[in-house]
Amino acid sequence: MTEVRTLGECRTESPLSVLLGDRRTTRHYVDEDDRVLVDDTLGMVQARRDAGEPLVSFEPGGPRRRIYFDPAKTRAAVVTCGGLCPGLNDVIRALVLELHQAYGVRRVLGFRNGYQGFVPSYGHDVVDLTPTSVSGIDEKGGTVLGTSRGDQDPEVVADCLERMDVDILFVVGGDGSMRGAMAVSRVLAARGRHVAVVGVPKTVDNDLPFIDASFGFQTAFGRASESIRAAHTEARSTPNGVGLVKLMGRHSGFIACYAALATSDSDFVLVPEVPFALEGEDGVLAHVRRRVAEQGHALVVVAEGAGQEHLDDGREERDASGNVRLRDIGGLLRERIGADFDAHGQALSLRYIDPSYAIRSVPANPSDSVYCLRLAHAAVHAAMAGRTEVVVGRWHGRFVHVPMALAVSERNVVSESGDLWLAVLESTGQPARFGDAPATVTAH
Ligand code: F6P
Repeated sequence: MTEVRTLGECRTESPLSVLLGDRRTTRHYVDEDDRVLVDDTLGMVQARRDAGEPLVSFEPGGPRRRIYFDPAKTRAAVVTCGGLCPGLNDVIRALVLELHQAYGVRRVLGFRNGYQGFVPSYGHDVVDLTPTSVSGIDEKGGTVLGTSRGDQDPEVVADCLERMDVDILFVVGGDGSMRGAMAVSRVLAARGRHVAVVGVPKTVDNDLPFIDASFGFQTAFGRASESIRAAHTEARSTPNGVGLVKLMGRHSGFIACYAALATSDSDFVLVPEVPFALEGEDGVLAHVRRRVAEQGHALVVVAEGAGQEHLDDGREERDASGNVRLRDIGGLLRERIGADFDAHGQALSLRYIDPSYAIRSVPANPSDSVYCLRLAHAAVHAAMAGRTEVVVGRWHGRFVHVPMALAVSERNVVSESGDLWLAVLESTGQPARFGDAPATVTAH
C-alpha cells in the first residue's frame, strides 16, 4: 500500500551527499533508511497490534546519498493541471532552482496548459525553464505555465515525452491529474522507458488524503476569512442583519471551517460532509431567525458543495475533470432565508458575499511559499533518486512519499466526529445536526 516504485538502483553519488553527514540520528531529520509511521497515537498503534496488523509507514522524503539519474544527462519537465491554487508559481520556481542549483540539471521544460501541452493538435509551445526565466514569478498568482482541466490520451502524452527525451516529469495537480500521471507512467513503463513521474499535490479544497494540508490552502482560507469579516461587519451594522458567505469546497468543507474559525464570528457553518434540514424548528432557517432575534444579527458560512440534496433536480452535469457541476447553494439560502423572514413578519437585511475565484488566484502567503518550496525540494529529491508514480506530501509534519495510487484512493473530508468539526461547533454554538437531515449526502 505504501511501497514506492523505483526505476532502479541508485549508483551515482548525489551532489547533496556532502550535506547529509551524520544527520541519521537527529530528531529533526528522518534518514532515508528510516520510515515515517502513518499512525501517531498509542491508541492507533495498539489497535493495529490487537488486530495482528503490522505498523504502516511511509518512505521519508528528502535527499538521498546516491541518486538514480546523472544530473548532467537528465532532462526534466513540469506541467500544472486543474484549477488554480495559491503557490503554483512558487512550486515551479523551486523545482527549477533545486534542479539547477542543487543537482546541476540544466535542462528543464515547461509544458503549457495542463495535459493539453503534450498534445500536438493543441499547438501549445514548450518553454525552457531557467533560473532567469522563473525569477520573480512567485510574486504573481496563477501559474506561468497555464493550466487546463481534463485528461489527454496517456499514449499521446508518453509519445511527446519520448520525443522530447524527458527523464523526469513533475505533475502539479489534483486527484484527476494524478490519475492521469499514473496512466502516463504505466504507458512509459510498458514501453521500457525509465521516466520518473512525480506529483506535487495541488488542491485548494485540501481534499487529498495523507497530507497534513495542501499548499495554498492557508492562503486561500485566509483570503476567504476577509470575506467573512466583511459580511460580519455588514450584518452587525444594520438591524436584523444576516451575512451570508459562500466559499469554495466541492466535497470537502475545510475552507469554510478554517475561514470561519479564523475570525470566530460565524454563527453557522454548513459543509458538504454534514447534511442539514432547512425547514422545521430545528432546521437552519429557524435557527438563523432565532439567532437574529437574540443577538440582532447572524453570520452564515456555506461551502459550495453543502446541501446539494436541497437542489437535486435529477439532472447531472459534469466539468472537463469529470466533477459534478454544483448547484448554487448560496443563492438558495439567500432566497429561503428571505422567504422565511417574510413568512414570520420579521425584517431582514441580508448581505451575500461570494468571493469565488478571488481566494485562489492570489499569490501564496509567506507560510505557503515556504511549504511550496519544501514540497518542490522533496519532489526533486524523490525524482533524482528514481522514485516514480509518487506524490510528495507532509504527514504529521514529516515530508513523505505517498504512492499515487494511495493518494487518489480516497478523499480527505471534514470528519463529523473529528476535532475540527468539534471546534466549529464550539465556536459557532450551532447544533451538531439541523433537524432531520438525511443521514448521507447523495449529491456527490
Ligand atoms: O477543486 C477546486 C475548486 O476550487 C473547487 O472548490 C471549485 O468548485 C472548483 O475548483 C472550481 O474550479 P473551475 O471553475 O476552475 O472548474
